[in-house]
Amino acid sequence: MNILLTGGAGYIGSHTAVELLQKNHSVIIFDNLSNSDINVLDKIEKITGKRPDFVKGDVRSREDLQKLFDSKKIDCVIHFAGLKAVGESVAEPLMYYENNFNGTVYLLQEMKKHNVKNIIFSSSATVYKPTDKNPITEEYELGASNPYGRTKLFIEEMLKDLYASDKSFNVVLLRYFNPIGAHSSGLLGENPSGIPNNLMPYICRVATGKLEILSVFGNDYPTKDGTGVRDYIHVMDLASGHAKAIDKIEENCGLAVYNLGTGIGYSVLDIVNTFNKVNGNLVKYKIAPRRDGDLAEYYACAKKANDELGWKAEKTLEDMCRSAYLYEKNNG
Ligand code: NAD
Ligand code: WQD
Repeated sequence: MNILLTGGAGYIGSHTAVELLQKNHSVIIFDNLSNSDINVLDKIEKITGKRPDFVKGDVRSREDLQKLFDSKKIDCVIHFAGLKAVGESVAEPLMYYENNFNGTVYLLQEMKKHNVKNIIFSSSATVYKPTDKNPITEEYELGASNPYGRTKLFIEEMLKDLYASDKSFNVVLLRYFNPIGAHSSGLLGENPSGIPNNLMPYICRVATGKLEILSVFGNDYPTKDGTGVRDYIHVMDLASGHAKAIDKIEENCGLAVYNLGTGIGYSVLDIVNTFNKVNGNLVKYKIAPRRDGDLAEYYACAKKANDELGWKAEKTLEDMCRSAYLYEKNNG
């Protein structure tokens, strides 16, 4: 298939590009490079021996989208492009609605105009209403609790409305849990600008001495060791989930929604201890107050993706910690 990856130069998109090229799909990356670097194309080529097609552009620009769809043959779109920082979305909600929501409206309009009716959307576990009932199935009540999450939820609703109006669309909503880790080559990974908000990038910077100490946000949650529990998934497992979703689209699946998680919950201390075990004792931590808005625990029920996509996360927490650190050492 000829697959367009909006936001394909970013963290998850670049790993997915590798997976798709290795499965002999053609890949076109469309990205405004607001949170990524053009040299990712060289790295993808180095890993796969194939260079993805690249078009610089913005999903908020109808003109950029029109040029793209006029000039390229596209069978399916994987829509990664968007902003993703929860705190920033609280401070700048309109920026998030414009980038994530408007950008998706324009993209879908252009797709419809060109009769491109296959889309996979990067959704998030953050669309689920906060719950203490784990594991979280796809049937759980929806209800995001911050502007970023609402952009994801509203886009999901828009895609459902679109599908209801035109059943010739195939729409796959993938709800990612907590993606971490990096390609085993150490060439691709996550490199957030500034001080990271997320756990694994923060740990990596403590390990390389760029940050001094990790603050563990709370050790009095009702969890196995008192620290927050999440479903961390290796980014290459996530990438293979997208390849399986493409196969599903080739079967004309209509509208489908899947959690992409491992189904296993790890605590903050599990992550720190495993990281220190596989990489050497590099990460010091201190217990700090809880972070506003954090839930004690959530992890996926990953059964539906297993049953219907034939997909299962295979990498271990050790793999996630080892690869994340390798990338940080090489690129951070
Ligand atoms: P990322 O920031 O690394 O990648 C997003 C890419 O989109 C970047 O390359 C950026 O330059 C590009 N982009 C942003 N706005 C754009 C625009 N208007 N036009 C064109 N390109 C634009 O983020 P990621 O972690 O790879 O996430 C990819 C998608 O997955 C996002 O939609 C994100 O919300 C979603 N998601 C991420 C996580 C996570 O924890 N990383 C979890 C759940 C869902
Ligand atoms: C994980 C755990 C923290 C940093 C976020 C978004 C979510 C999704 C994925 C996109 C929690 C603890 C963290 C630190 C810590 N993104 N922690 N010290 O909050 O589960 O999810 O990213 O859709 O929408 O909200 O991920 O990595 O920030 O936190 O103790 O310095 O690590 O309290 O328990 P989170 P995270």
